[in-house]
Amino acid sequence: DTLHRVLRGMPKAELHIHIEGSLEPELIFALAQRNNVRLDYASVEDLRRAYAFTDLQSFLDIYYAGASVLITEQDFYDMTRAYLKRAHEDNVRHVEMFFDPQTHTARGIAFATVIDGISRALADARSEWGISGGLIMCFLRHLSEEEAFATLEQALPYRDRLLGVGLDSSERGHPPEKFARVFARCRELGLHLVAHAGEEGPPDYIRTALDLLKVERIDHGVRCLEDPELTRRVAKDGIALTVCPLSNIKLCVFDALHQHNMRALLDAGLKVTVNSDDPAYFGGYINDNFLQTFDALGLDAGHARQLARNSFSAAFLPASEKQKRL
Ligand code: ADE
Ligand code: ZN
Repeated sequence: DTLHRVLRGMPKAELHIHIEGSLEPELIFALAQRNNVRLDYASVEDLRRAYAFTDLQSFLDIYYAGASVLITEQDFYDMTRAYLKRAHEDNVRHVEMFFDPQTHTARGIAFATVIDGISRALADARSEWGISGGLIMCFLRHLSEEEAFATLEQALPYRDRLLGVGLDSSERGHPPEKFARVFARCRELGLHLVAHAGEEGPPDYIRTALDLLKVERIDHGVRCLEDPELTRRVAKDGIALTVCPLSNIKLCVFDALHQHNMRALLDAGLKVTVNSDDPAYFGGYINDNFLQTFDALGLDAGHARQLARNSFSAAFLPASEKQKRL
């Protein structure tokens, strides 16, 4: 119908996509074969059947196993290229892409291999499709701050290729303050700062991500509404939340899409954006997230316009560049 056409066709920015989470089962098997990597699954169907998650950790275990087929620069290029092609079909005009270098360097893959492959695909997407974008390097929060510092050290020669840094992986038990010093260092380097908070973890993690890490956006942040004072602050300060509705259902943050708090977040005046998180694992790319959420919650064309505007307004684009796209 008309609303679906509007949602599909509107130019949008995607601000919460883990590139390793765009690796489709078919590509996992193709890369496993190309690289002689053994998988614990007999077939694409067998792997897909394992995508029945009960919480964040049950997903992360399979997501890290899937990433083990990535060995060469070309592998990272092919993965990123496939995502960007799909994003282009969804009228994504700007992408701020997460990547998890520690998942790869821990397996002996050079940092350069990872970032070169991803950057080359981004450069091609810019010249072929006019998609702008950049990379946000995430620290794995289940690892130590010392390991995060070591990763930052490896990234320094590529400082100019990074838009910013983020914090992902297992949230519960790994509060933001664990990474206060490494984020302070990244801030001195002029990197933009974001962190996953309030996905599974409590609203307090949103507060400490803001106060102690000084992040500019919160990834997920849906549990914000449990704390009215925090909600007022996040709204007043115009801190964007990069919400991922299909992810929240697959990871059991909400039982069903009609119970998602997206409408309540918007009604609270929060700068909400819609994103896909790990589209190969959660059953949909960005337009699937838009269409299914709008259908489940009865959102309208006004909401569509607001969410598209929010995606560019929350992007780490120069003000002049943003103005053109709002
Ligand atoms: N890594 C990939 N997807 C993630 C998510 N939704 N939360 C935390 N870490 C992640
Ligand atoms: Zn995420």
